[in-house]
Amino acid sequence: MNGKYRPIWITKKGFLKVIDQTKLPHKQETVTLKTAEDTVIAIKDMIIRGAGVIGCVGAFGVYLAIRETKKINENFNSKVEAIRKSRPTAVNLMWAVDKMIETLKNNSENLVEIALAEAINITDEEARKSKIIAKYGADIIEDILKDKEEKSINILTHCNAGWLAVLDMGTALAPIYEAKNRGIDVHVWVDETRPRNQGANLTAWELKKEGIKHTIIADNTGGHLMQHDLVDMVITGADRVSRQGDVANKIGTYLKALSAKDNKIPFYVALPSSTFDFNIIDGINEIPIETRSEDEVKYMRGINSNGELEEILITPKNSPALNYGFDVTPRRLITGLITERGVIRPIQRLIESKFRDLLPV
Ligand code: MRU
Repeated sequence: MNGKYRPIWITKKGFLKVIDQTKLPHKQETVTLKTAEDTVIAIKDMIIRGAGVIGCVGAFGVYLAIRETKKINENFNSKVEAIRKSRPTAVNLMWAVDKMIETLKNNSENLVEIALAEAINITDEEARKSKIIAKYGADIIEDILKDKEEKSINILTHCNAGWLAVLDMGTALAPIYEAKNRGIDVHVWVDETRPRNQGANLTAWELKKEGIKHTIIADNTGGHLMQHDLVDMVITGADRVSRQGDVANKIGTYLKALSAKDNKIPFYVALPSSTFDFNIIDGINEIPIETRSEDEVKYMRGINSNGELEEILITPKNSPALNYGFDVTPRRLITGLITERGVIRPIQRLIESKFRDLLPV
């Protein structure tokens, strides 16, 4: 696999090694996924997460499945089904699994080698798209800066859409990394992203490593910052985008988009084509939204004074909690979709004409 920053890689024995994202930023540990079932657990428990990486790990899960069963049979199909169902919202998972199955079905020999090659190919291809997204997004940042008196830009992002989520520059963070490479003075407002705090834990960690100025904010701060001219643009990633351009992303994205619209701040979503679900038109009514354990809302994870990772209860023990993982931002609130094929306004006709070759027949 190519690329500078990868949260997953193949070992000499042909297993998948991943950075354990549940431990960041406090501990940098890896986990080796040796079986298809390991990949299901890693996806479900969010040892790895982020739409792009979920898709890549799903692809390697199919490779590990065929390595175990040697041929396409009932056992293989049930392993693949478990991978496909491990998380419901990020469509990159279903896309990658379908691509793997199609490749395997087109071959009758050397299935293990072919599956490994295809999983690597999918991963490399996603990394290549991320680099192109970086360039298109940085062009937008440059354009916004042209209209500003000061020569620095404040970008707000939600959740983590960096290289931990999409190889190898991310999606929402890719334009920010590229802007820094171009010498632009960029500062990022990092939404903490409750309940799992992917912003505070992962985005802040990535930005810090790259020396990019950033400030972590409580999730409800964005609106206030926007009212006071402290945000020049918003960029988020996506987990599934409908054919008409509605965007499912981490819960809370919709509220940021509403606030951006009210304050006339451009709101961009960065995604590779693998995040489109061309079978779905109306995102709000058709995109499946994951519901996760209420414990993620009720407990916070952090490091204690002994340097150990600890979970603590922050609510009354028996109060119920509800934990939707994602929400859908309707297309009318989105300024543009930054893809590897350019920046597109979220209009069905434009999306279809840009991705005509990928539409279902
Ligand atoms: O629940 P997660 O951490 O997998 O959610 C991730 C996000 O919502 C990201 O913003 C999204 O995957 C875009 S980056 C590919």
